[in-house]
Amino acid sequence: MERTFVMIKPDGVQRRLVGRIVNRIEEKGLRVAGLKLLSMKESQATELYSVHKGKPFYDGLVKFVTSSPVVVMVIEGAYAIKVVRALLGATFGYDAAPGTIRGDFGTSKGFNLVHGSDSPESAQREIPIFFRPEEVVAWSPADANWVYEGPERA
Ligand code: RTP
Ligand code: MG
Repeated sequence: MERTFVMIKPDGVQRRLVGRIVNRIEEKGLRVAGLKLLSMKESQATELYSVHKGKPFYDGLVKFVTSSPVVVMVIEGAYAIKVVRALLGATFGYDAAPGTIRGDFGTSKGFNLVHGSDSPESAQREIPIFFRPEEVVAWSPADANWVYEGPERA
């Protein structure tokens, strides 16, 4: 079992795609362990994107994610980090394959709808920026025996 941090960016919320994006994550077999809509503080944005500090797109990125509400989630399940990244597709909409969220819903560079942690270390760093421990709830889905085989359920 793995946890990852997922954020529906301002463009996804503004375009009322929250339900469809969460649906893709759920129908793949992953589950929501934490979820809320919020206006991101600048301090949260700079922490989330600290690895990009100094890059040409950094200031615009911080401005974008603090410009309008986002939906933040903790997503749980087997191989959650790589599965979410695969569901998102390539970073820029025009590169992302059809069938992926970014590939199906956009063609933009910056307006790419969703963020997902890129490694276990990133997930561990990103989740506490937005969630207190008691806001993340571990639970087992009723169909786990038919979605996951043996050790994948742990
Ligand atoms: P994310 O962190 O949002 O899930 O996206 P990612 O891993 O696929 O891409 P990353 O390299 O971490 O970049 C973070 C966000 O910065 C914007 N970006 N713009 N060259 C550029 O103009 C550029 N490069 C990255 C994108 O919005 C990307 O999601
Ligand atoms: Mg990234």
